[in-house]
Amino acid sequence: MDKWQDTIDLLKQYHQEHIIDWLEQVDEQKRKELMNQLNEIDFHEMTELYENTKKEIEFKENIIESIPYIDKEKLTFEQKQHYEELGETAIRSGHYAVVTMAGGQGTRLEHLGPKGTFKLDVYGKGKYLFEILAENLKQANESYQTTIPWYIMTSQENHEQTQKFLAKHNYFGYPKEEVILFKQGELPLISTEGKLLIGKDQTIKLASNGNGGVYSSLRISGALANMKEKGIKWIFIGGVDNALLKMADTILLGMAIEAKVQIAAKTVVKANPHERVGVFCKMNGHPKVIEYTELPEKMAEEVDENGELRYGESHIMCNLYSIEAIEKISKEPLIYHSALKKNSYLDSKGKEVIPTEPNSYKFEAFIFDGFEFFDDIALLRGKREVDFAPVKNKEGVDSPKTAKELYEKFWEKNSKNQ
Ligand code: UD1
Repeated sequence: MDKWQDTIDLLKQYHQEHIIDWLEQVDEQKRKELMNQLNEIDFHEMTELYENTKKEIEFKENIIESIPYIDKEKLTFEQKQHYEELGETAIRSGHYAVVTMAGGQGTRLEHLGPKGTFKLDVYGKGKYLFEILAENLKQANESYQTTIPWYIMTSQENHEQTQKFLAKHNYFGYPKEEVILFKQGELPLISTEGKLLIGKDQTIKLASNGNGGVYSSLRISGALANMKEKGIKWIFIGGVDNALLKMADTILLGMAIEAKVQIAAKTVVKANPHERVGVFCKMNGHPKVIEYTELPEKMAEEVDENGELRYGESHIMCNLYSIEAIEKISKEPLIYHSALKKNSYLDSKGKEVIPTEPNSYKFEAFIFDGFEFFDDIALLRGKREVDFAPVKNKEGVDSPKTAKELYEKFWEKNSKNQ
């Protein structure tokens, strides 16, 4: 009874009286479910997040600088060889693990289901995005005579589907015992009036907490402990939607080892000032990525003395961490970014409302916000035609069509390795 009253008081305090009405309408079973959900919500945090949506993002107070990088193209033969040797030794020794962030739903792609289950129309027969990733890792396993543990982050929404899909396809020939799925966390959606939403299943509507949820989810799910038991020292974290993602780049790894940094990333030069990619920079002396949705126009277009974009190193979700780095970030709270979206909900009478305009905020942590906890990052500039074939939109730029072209062109040149 006390718990019930506490929850009611909390809902009143945070102006969520509509949830009290709702609790009184639903059956016993739903009420229990709702109470469990409500006990998990940090109302103070949700209020802060909602208040933050009213503030403009400003970088004015901060010192922002461009960031140094090493161009892979400009490395000497000896440098390349040295990095490769360092990286290869670490992978061969079983010190390397890979994480794929596959919690996204591919909404822009209009694909029904987890994004990794999207089939890219390559070589007539087509290949699923998960299949392309599995092939990349199998190739590394063969080259370095090891089996790289492959951790896949799913979301509450797509976990089961992903699990079934991978099992149905026999993990695309990847050793099943080395494929470990773990779920990311969720946060409530908040209406533009600051209210929690009730979803079709009569419970509070939640959504994935963004790909920055990867760090804490690695910890909470036990995946991090599992890595430690295996003696993993370096962890690659990448997205699910880049058909040219190289998940075991020995040069990137060797460079990080040599530079004695805790974090590293591969970049490519931004195609144009308004390409929808995050860009690397330094903010107040720390590495940072500014997301395309938050990059001020002036910064996007700024050029340096050589006429190159000052903030032109794109974040392509090809990131590397020491295990200590992951441990450190996973203990820190990351900031949440908000996005205004259309989300259906039940009104006070239990009738579903399907909005025609964005009506609610989704809060997401971004993976690269973890970089700010470090003084340094090693950046390796790769090449778009070798490293980046994103599958984002149904048509036009970064679509299955452009990714197919890039993928086939790359493999035409490198077919001897396929
Ligand atoms: C992302 C990057 C952007 C980068 C671009 C390159 C972030 C926040 N943004 O933008 O900096 O330049 O890719 O293509 O990283 N995901 C989850 N859980 C979530 C949300 C996303 O696992 O809750 C995964 C997706 O499955 C995907 C990746 O994160 O693998 C990127 O997600 P998406 O939302 O598509 O990012 P972009 O807006 O394309």
